[in-house]
Amino acid sequence: MATPTKKSTPVKKSMKKSTSSKEDRSMLEEFVLDELKDIYWAEKNFTKVLPKMMKAATTSELKGAFEDHLNVTQTHITRLEQAFDLLGKKPQAKKCDAMAGITKEGESIIEDTEKGTMTRDAGLILAAQKVEHYEIATYGTLVQFAKTLGNTKLADLLLQTLNEEKDADETLTSIAESNINIEASEEEE
Ligand SMILES: [Fe+2]
Ligand SMILES: [Fe+2]
Repeated sequence: MATPTKKSTPVKKSMKKSTSSKEDRSMLEEFVLDELKDIYWAEKNFTKVLPKMMKAATTSELKGAFEDHLNVTQTHITRLEQAFDLLGKKPQAKKCDAMAGITKEGESIIEDTEKGTMTRDAGLILAAQKVEHYEIATYGTLVQFAKTLGNTKLADLLLQTLNEEKDADETLTSIAESNINIEASEEEE
């Protein structure tokens, strides 16, 4: 007679990193770590792309906004390093394919638009806002996850960055709406 086979319960160990972590991490915490690696790569990548966008921009207003955001982005990188530290991990970057694609698109906007035109600035704003929205989505979720994990310090740290990304997005919108979009619409091929 077949004896009822007792299914072994999933080994909790599998959720534990085999080497470095001493303590058990919940799956959500592992997920937060993974997302931190992703956004860490994205922020670092953006510091390489922003100077190109700054150089390509037509108006001094947009150049200035990109320059400001480059400085802010450096702060975001530092904060992420603090976030890794709060979780007892060394900062680690993992290539973010989504952000690589978005910034590649930004570079192709530079190629596809004429130097010195408002159309170029309108396109650059579009590209930059795609980056900001990706960051807002990521940080917004990470803040909620950190709160769920009861890690208030982490949540507060990432919330500062989230608010700065929102500010950057709003600044870009107001620059676009002030005159760039209208002037771009009057440019002829
Ligand atoms: Fe950022
Ligand atoms: Fe940003």
